[in-house]
Amino acid sequence: MTRIVVLTGAGISAESGLGTFRDEGGLWTKYDLNEVATPEGFARNPVLVQEFYNARRANCRGAAPNAAHEALARLEAAAGVRLTLVTQNVDDLHERAGARDVIHMHGALNRALCGACGHRWDAPEVMSVDDPCPACATAATRPDVVWFGEMPYEMELIYDRLLMADLFVAIGTSGIVYPAAGFVSEARAAGTPTLELNLEPSDTYGLFDEGRYGPASEIVPLWVGEVLTRLRG
Ligand code: APR
Repeated sequence: MTRIVVLTGAGISAESGLGTFRDEGGLWTKYDLNEVATPEGFARNPVLVQEFYNARRANCRGAAPNAAHEALARLEAAAGVRLTLVTQNVDDLHERAGARDVIHMHGALNRALCGACGHRWDAPEVMSVDDPCPACATAATRPDVVWFGEMPYEMELIYDRLLMADLFVAIGTSGIVYPAAGFVSEARAAGTPTLELNLEPSDTYGLFDEGRYGPASEIVPLWVGEVLTRLRG
């Protein structure tokens, strides 16, 4: 069994029409992340934050998975592969491409969270701060996404999988935001081979054993094809 940990970032969804964060025209070039992606920003102006995520949710609904998402779903389904697919993305394009077990370490746009009792449920298309929590009825609804300064989800599971992996691959991420940007170092410390698949070298490109550069919809299917051919012997 070949155990592979793949980390994806906004770059894998770029060709599906969803913006990245730090490229030219990226989300953080248009919005102040302190206003729309921090607990303090939500406390200051919850209506603005809900509108920001409602717009991203609508954008995501209008997008379709691309060949990179589809290739990873094929890899996950392949005999002889134990894939741990960790995404920093809050879109559901991996799932819509057929991936069955996706770890959303930064949460998900299609989930809602009650800020009062911690209850989670499927988000409505348009979320409002006045929405009562289905469990405690408090009007404390927020998107179930991890904001700056909050703890990402499933970190213990992710580190366990990194320790046991035969290969770590980062796809479409700038390597700027931790703890995800540190996964390559965790893999190296465990003696795990590392590969970066990105449009251009990331901030941590020098830590990878190998880097391949180009659009994810081209280089990810090529890499998955190589892995599957090698597995078939
Ligand atoms: N194919 C492959 N890679 C691409 C493509 C593409 N078509 N287009 C862009 N990229 C690469 C860019 O070169 C860049 O390295 O994707 C990366 C996107 O980087 P960011 O915009 O910083 O996105 P990401 O790394 O996912 O950000 C991490 O930061 O703001 C937080 O929570 C947010 O999850 C996000 C985290």
